[in-house]
Amino acid sequence: MRVLSVVGARPQFVKLAPIARECAARDVEHVIVHTGQHYDPMLSDVFFSDLGIPDPDVHLGVGSGGHGAQTGAILAALDEVLLEHRPDWVLVYGDTNSTLAGALSAVKLHLPIAHLEAGLRSFNRRMPEEHNRVLTDHAADLLLAPTAVARDHLAAEGLAMRTVVVGDVMMDVLLRVRDELTDTGAVLDMLGMPPAGFSVATIHRAENTDDPARLRATVEALQQVDHPVVLLAHPRLRVRATEQGLDLDGGALTTRDPLPYPQLVGAVSQARGVITDSGGLQKEAFALRTPCTTVRTETEWVETVQLGWNVLAEPGPAVREAASRPGPAPTEAAPYGDGHAAAAVLDALERGRTTGG
Ligand code: UD1
Repeated sequence: MRVLSVVGARPQFVKLAPIARECAARDVEHVIVHTGQHYDPMLSDVFFSDLGIPDPDVHLGVGSGGHGAQTGAILAALDEVLLEHRPDWVLVYGDTNSTLAGALSAVKLHLPIAHLEAGLRSFNRRMPEEHNRVLTDHAADLLLAPTAVARDHLAAEGLAMRTVVVGDVMMDVLLRVRDELTDTGAVLDMLGMPPAGFSVATIHRAENTDDPARLRATVEALQQVDHPVVLLAHPRLRVRATEQGLDLDGGALTTRDPLPYPQLVGAVSQARGVITDSGGLQKEAFALRTPCTTVRTETEWVETVQLGWNVLAEPGPAVREAASRPGPAPTEAAPYGDGHAAAAVLDALERGRTTGG
């Protein structure tokens, strides 16, 4: 079997790691195509080296651009690559412009598409990620759903027959990296944060960064939290803050560059809280049992909220208050699986057909 993975943005490299490992363990031929959507070393190369992912076989080097320009450039470049490799499966990940371009290219060439992390919905049609997910799910032949909630969303859209619940591959990599962590004190020294008395923050979604009022309200709230907050600043955030004349550092808030994955896991596992608009980090915080405050009006990962470990907060005082709340009741729940999702993905690809979940 030949599987061709299309990846391009940071969260996709994390999801790629356990898939690449499982392919290697089974002697499955795995072609990795990097679209170049993320090109900063700290958003890209460092994930390949730290997570032991083989170098991409093909690098499209498309870089930044508006949604149409970026998605179109990937699509145009991919056709030739897919025709050359003619994989048994084109595997696309998550909800970025690279995901949608990979799915569109494959569907036009009549190549089978599997969508990893299928069925997530925010029901917010203003989010670029929501367009990408819905369109990709409807183009794909095999929908690899991480949870029962995701499966139910797909069923409601008439896609049950193409769906298999496999668990969440992000748990595979998270649990492995957590268990391999050794010197967790070093990351706190690097960040200049006190043990257990700080929060880790990330803000990068367009709905927060590209709306001046929301961005200012978020930054001001983070600066007013009652304990130190380290903000791992995505390039999009820095660009928008500069454009809007906003100084990110101040009050409780200190900025640092994004962290490599093992250091991120080390920092979150020792933090008293996480404040974020990232999808992946909400789950990582939950898995490490660090309370999370999510700066969004909705979340795809509703299990974290239902279990009491995640609170949604609008930019402004609600973020400050949520970030200081007492910790929730302990739980043993594992809605995202037990760290063996990549094996279930490869099983489903090898079966080559769906079971209806
Ligand atoms: C993308 C995904 C988002 C995912 C996020 C993870 C889409 C629509 N969005 O958002 O779902 O959660 O990745 O990080 O695909 N930039 C750099 N260096 C880079 C990459 C980007 O400086 O390596 C800057 C550029 O100025 C660019 C901006 O960040 O215009 C946004 O990049 P883009 O790829 O459009 O989206 P992300 O915000 O990274």
